[in-house]
Amino acid sequence: MAETFQPDLLAGKVAFVAGASSGINLRIAQRYAAAGAKVMVISRSEEKIAAAAASIGGDAISMACDVRDYAKVAEAFARCRDAFGEIDIVLSGAAGNFLAPALGMSANAFKTVIDIDLLGTFNVLHASYQHLRKPGASLVSITAGQAVRPMMYQIHACAAKAGVNQVTKCLAMEWGPAGVRVNAVSPGPIGDTEGMARLAPNEDYVKSSKSRIPLRDWGTKDDIADACLWLASDASRYVTGAIINVDGGSELGDAGGDALTVAPR
Ligand code: COA
Ligand code: NAP
Repeated sequence: MAETFQPDLLAGKVAFVAGASSGINLRIAQRYAAAGAKVMVISRSEEKIAAAAASIGGDAISMACDVRDYAKVAEAFARCRDAFGEIDIVLSGAAGNFLAPALGMSANAFKTVIDIDLLGTFNVLHASYQHLRKPGASLVSITAGQAVRPMMYQIHACAAKAGVNQVTKCLAMEWGPAGVRVNAVSPGPIGDTEGMARLAPNEDYVKSSKSRIPLRDWGTKDDIADACLWLASDASRYVTGAIINVDGGSELGDAGGDALTVAPR
């Protein structure tokens, strides 16, 4: 596929991507590098994150780091700064999820997802601050539709991502005066990802899910990478505190087939 972006859009910039060993976040890290940024990636698995850095190529570096561990996150940012200089772009996307009814979830199960998604996002954004280029830095978190639309068997992810949205908006207010922008991207269902493998039990579910989305399809990792590229670039220089839906219209509600059977008068 032809590149849909300016190849030097992020030339000279430094990007730090958390949760980038696979899926959407890896694609974002690859996009940032393809647009000219120097990239550091982190995730829990040393082996997976080293392979991710190799797939990014160029100057990409990696470190095994659990976003729940503030000291480790701070160490990772210091390493990125030492290697590349002041940091222009931070992408916080580490997450965990599984389907479980509230009564089938221990307090620790609930806390685990809150810790990875919400506390992890706070840790990554907070620890980044002293290493950011100010003014000019752009911070982007990956949230989800669960933040605003409650979903059965997703009490942990709904609560965590709602928190991510508020962290985004609070930091946009506090850090805007220093010239630091803080935004989030909310993907709809994205094909070929661990996230949807966990949430979509079978092909019937997939078909039914697509039939209720206004644009009648799931998105791709490239759709999310393109939005994150725009938010990371100076093309979005006046955008902060925004939650950008890249979801085919999913958040608007159920646009299922029945709605189309009403003929105009
Ligand atoms: N249903 C109910 N509880 C579950 C569960 C499930 N399907 N999966 C895990 N848990 C519980 C565990 O039993 C444990 O609770 P307990 O101590 O009371 O028994 C708690 O969650 C933590 O599990 P653990 O495996 O120790 O957590 P972890 O930190 O090693 O892994 C997860 C985190 C559970 C989120 C794991 O699925 C993961 O690593 N996910 C990353 C990938 C991912 O989710 N991708 C999609 C992103 S949207
Ligand atoms: P994924 O491939 O499982 O990506 C999750 C990443 O987070 C992995 O690289 C994982 O690597 C890392 N990670 C997990 N726990 C971590 C921790 N404690 N510390 C550091 N890294 C950790 O899933 P995905 O589906 O692409 O999802 C990516 C993001 O998009 C998530 O924020 C998710 O909520 C969001 N999202 C996805 C969809 C979708 O349709 N897939 C929809 C809406 C939102 P390690 O295992 O190596 O740690």
